[in-house]
Amino acid sequence: MLTLCVLLLTMISCCCGAFPGPPKQQINDRPIIGILTQETEDDNLKPFGKTYIPSSYVKYLESAGCRVTPVKLNLTLPEYEKIFNSINGMMFIGGAVNLLTSDFAKAAAVFYKLALKAYVSGDYFPLWGTCLGFQLLTALVAGDDLLTNATVENKALPLKLTADAESSRMFRNFPPELMKSLSQEPLTGNFHHYGIATQTFEGNERLESFFSILSTNKAKEGVEFVSTIEGKKYPFYGVQWHPEVSRFQWHPDQEFPHSVNAVRVSYLTADFFVNEARRSSHHFSSAKEEDAALIYNYSPLYVGNISSYMQIYFF
Ligand SMILES: *[C@@H]1O[C@H](CO)[C@@H](O)[C@H](O)[C@H]1NC(C)=O
Ligand SMILES: *[C@@H]1O[C@H](CO)[C@@H](O)[C@H](O)[C@H]1NC(C)=O
Ligand SMILES: *[C@@H]1O[C@H](CO)[C@@H](O)[C@H](O)[C@H]1NC(C)=O
Repeated sequence: MLTLCVLLLTMISCCCGAFPGPPKQQINDRPIIGILTQETEDDNLKPFGKTYIPSSYVKYLESAGCRVTPVKLNLTLPEYEKIFNSINGMMFIGGAVNLLTSDFAKAAAVFYKLALKAYVSGDYFPLWGTCLGFQLLTALVAGDDLLTNATVENKALPLKLTADAESSRMFRNFPPELMKSLSQEPLTGNFHHYGIATQTFEGNERLESFFSILSTNKAKEGVEFVSTIEGKKYPFYGVQWHPEVSRFQWHPDQEFPHSVNAVRVSYLTADFFVNEARRSSHHFSSAKEEDAALIYNYSPLYVGNISSYMQIYFF
């Protein structure tokens, strides 16, 4: 009798105790995330390769339990479609290229369109943009470059969290005390001259209907800019700040926040995005193809003495 009760109770708590999240799907515990390479613009770095990915972004994603594949620029649409169908999410890195005309922006637009189309047919493909990558997401959605001068150069800031942050997917698994720290302590590294003014964002119908604003910040010029966004419907996420620097960049002249809480924020954002990628079941057509595509085939170069990065992959 007692056993039956316990069994019954267990069953009840199993089927009714869990919160009604998204419908049960198959979880992919071997996700692979693409990082789009970017044209090398820094004169110090140009001699080493035409395109690059700082290793901090690679380590950031890998730290949460995924593998990374670098995605080259200037490929054909069929080549990009094949990659899209092989990987489980995509990251657009920071940097300094044009949001509309660069090879980086053109390749990103292909993945953006594929991810939009996939979602409509029930296929989950998350996108993440950091700094320039965040700005690029806004340009893709708005169909225009809406940047304004919004300088926060080499400064760590707390986030001014909006009411939407608490109910967001991105911050849902953050402990409440960490959310409090995030709004009070300088846990987010900022390295940008441009940004999207909150006023511009809210005044743009496409952006306003597509994304929720999760945080804002004030720039040197006094303008308030959008610093964290997530798609209301689509699994697209963007941060104007740099979560990866807190754990993987160490240049002494840079205000990379390395406090315990900054490191936690960095890890939890990576954990969040990799979990999003676990919802995608895309895969390479063979183990051989997968092996050949992974970043392990490349070696990063030490650049700590000529840049604020420690290591960079050049392609
Ligand atoms: C991409 O193609 C354009 C046009 O041919 C060329 O100018 C550019 O250098 C190429 N970019 C890369 C990264 O190879
Ligand atoms: C930013 O400021 C500079 C110098 O003050 C100005 O030349 C430029 O047009 C501004 N850019 C934007 C996008 O507002
Ligand atoms: C930077 O370090 C690399 C690797 O140790 C070395 O080859 C290179 O000469 C150094 N460059 C400068 C400008 O110090």
